[in-house]
Amino acid sequence: MIRSVIKGIGAAKPERLVKNADLEGIVETSDEWIVQRTGIRQRYIAGEGETTASLGEAAARAALDNAGLTPDDIDLIIVATSTPDNTFPASAVDIQARLGMTHGFAFDMQAVCSGFVYAITTADLYIRGGMAKRVLVIGSETFSRILDWKDRTTCVLFGDGAGAVVLEAGEGRGLTSDRGVLTANLRSDGSHKQKLYVDGGPSSTQTVGYLRMEGREVFKHAVGMVTDVIEAAFSEAGITAADIDWFVPHQANKRIIDATAKKLELPSEKVVITVDQHGNTSAASVPLALATAVGDGRIKQGDLVLLEAMGGGFTWGAVLLRW
Ligand code: ACO
Repeated sequence: MIRSVIKGIGAAKPERLVKNADLEGIVETSDEWIVQRTGIRQRYIAGEGETTASLGEAAARAALDNAGLTPDDIDLIIVATSTPDNTFPASAVDIQARLGMTHGFAFDMQAVCSGFVYAITTADLYIRGGMAKRVLVIGSETFSRILDWKDRTTCVLFGDGAGAVVLEAGEGRGLTSDRGVLTANLRSDGSHKQKLYVDGGPSSTQTVGYLRMEGREVFKHAVGMVTDVIEAAFSEAGITAADIDWFVPHQANKRIIDATAKKLELPSEKVVITVDQHGNTSAASVPLALATAVGDGRIKQGDLVLLEAMGGGFTWGAVLLRW
């Protein structure tokens, strides 16, 4: 059977690094509060000329280099983002043009923080369906541009960045020992829309709007939702938590990650945490964490890796893959 195997990975961050202490002059907050409640120590904030498309392009080029491929080799680009450069066209076609590609096709995917998990799942279906041989999946965000910088309950939590992977069709035997995507489970429940949303949009206010979040409510639902979907993935693959080599969760809050790992009985040595380094970068968070753990040699070929995310909507999901 066809399996979608990750061939290369790359990441990009804006130049400007903003530490927690730097935010103390903007809103009434403290490094101590932010670290204790979230685990975040710093984030990168996009400057002039840095956008979702430019960061996405940089991450895509790094992933292509890492895979030893060129844009000519790519059939499809999927960009997971909630902060596109324009309402339309998609940031994916912008990145396609920046890469000098005039072949293939490209589109954006909007599932907020779950975007990368949704996009990997979609790419896997295109590959297994035979419509694409190689897919560039990018998570790129500039959440700093939709933050209300007067609202301390949200502005301290998010950052900007991008991560990308190249997925390629490979041969598998239909076993969990295969390399590539093994299972993908997605969920959404729009009845939670008001708990995490942007209060603007082309069809409602004709403005971009600002991110609004009932943090405590999101927290309350997060752990149960993601552990449910992960348990579904385990049961579908016929594995247990003990089989997982690396858990790469959405990097929103260290307390949510710790509580999820504890509930699943995943030891902390197997959990990749980078939220301290870049804050919550929404759809870019999982590929940024992946790129870190691959770059420093923790994730190696053959390892069983569990990706998970949860975000606005609510949307959530889990992807199990062998590196
Ligand atoms: N600095 C200092 N104090 C603050 C700040 C801040 N930046 N923000 C809020 N506070 C205060 C509050 O006003 C409140 O004060 P009060 O007790 O006098 O009313 C106090 O801190 C506690 O506030 P809570 O909201 O109860 O704090 P909590 O422990 O719940 O932490 C947080 C807040 C970090 C937002 C937490 O609820 C959380 O992480 N929720 C999940 C959010 C999340 O992960 N969202 C992203 C997932 S989806 C996606 O990624 C898009």
